[in-house]
Amino acid sequence: MQLDGKTAIVTGGSSGIGRAIAEAYVEAGASVVIANRSEDEGRAAADELGCRFVRTDVTEYEAVEALVETTVDEHGALDVVVNNAGIGSESSVGEMDLEEWANVVSVDLDGVMHGTKAALPHLLDSEGCIVNVASIYGLVGGRGAAAYSAAKGGVVNFTQQVAVDYAAEGVRVNSICPGFVETPMTEPLLETEQFYNYVRDNTPMNRPAQPEEIAPLAVFLASDAASYLTGANIPIDGGWTAH
Ligand code: NAI
Repeated sequence: MQLDGKTAIVTGGSSGIGRAIAEAYVEAGASVVIANRSEDEGRAAADELGCRFVRTDVTEYEAVEALVETTVDEHGALDVVVNNAGIGSESSVGEMDLEEWANVVSVDLDGVMHGTKAALPHLLDSEGCIVNVASIYGLVGGRGAAAYSAAKGGVVNFTQQVAVDYAAEGVRVNSICPGFVETPMTEPLLETEQFYNYVRDNTPMNRPAQPEEIAPLAVFLASDAASYLTGANIPIDGGWTAH
């Protein structure tokens, strides 16, 4: 599967799953713009991978609009947006304070909407596509993850909704729903024996994934090989949601 000639934005593309997607896109021939709120991390990753970097906080709509405009100005078009930036949260609704809810929803759900809304006029021009990074916790309830599950559930249905609205105009919208993946987000959790065992025991494949095992699905979804695929929320979870 090739992405030759395509221009892609990957939000949160400097670490974990986003970085693996950015790297796989470059290998498939795409021009990639990494968008991240962390300047140092973003520049370092972009230099290593051969990408462009634009500092962006996805919670700020004007910043996401500027990211899209810069990308189109420099590359002439925008073909793919990967709304990947996200933060974790591990509180039940009783434990959680309202600030945590607002913060998680702001990054994990509003951020996806911002990337979608800002990019749409250009994706309509290019008949491009959107790849959202949701989660298994958008498909089923995540133990002790009230805000995160709500936000990811929102991403899952938003993916279907936007897909329905723009399918006839040639824009495809899908999401990837990973199970547990070893990244900087999950590292502190997976380092504890109790949490690692929880993931192992609830994953039929008995292990978390590596980011490189998620990226190929993002390449496929962005490629012409996925030309009839829209509105799908695809688990990539070692079997977590199969039981
Ligand atoms: P990560 O922490 O390595 O990467 C997240 C990236 O998003 C970081 O580069 C971070 O700087 C960036 N980011 C956070 N807030 C931002 C903001 N406001 N604006 C711009 N960038 C921002 O974590 P990971 O695991 O690679 O997560 C990527 C996506 O995958 C997230 O949406 C996460 O919810 C999702 N996911 C992760 C799973 C896992 O087990 N690691 C499982 C299922 C989904």
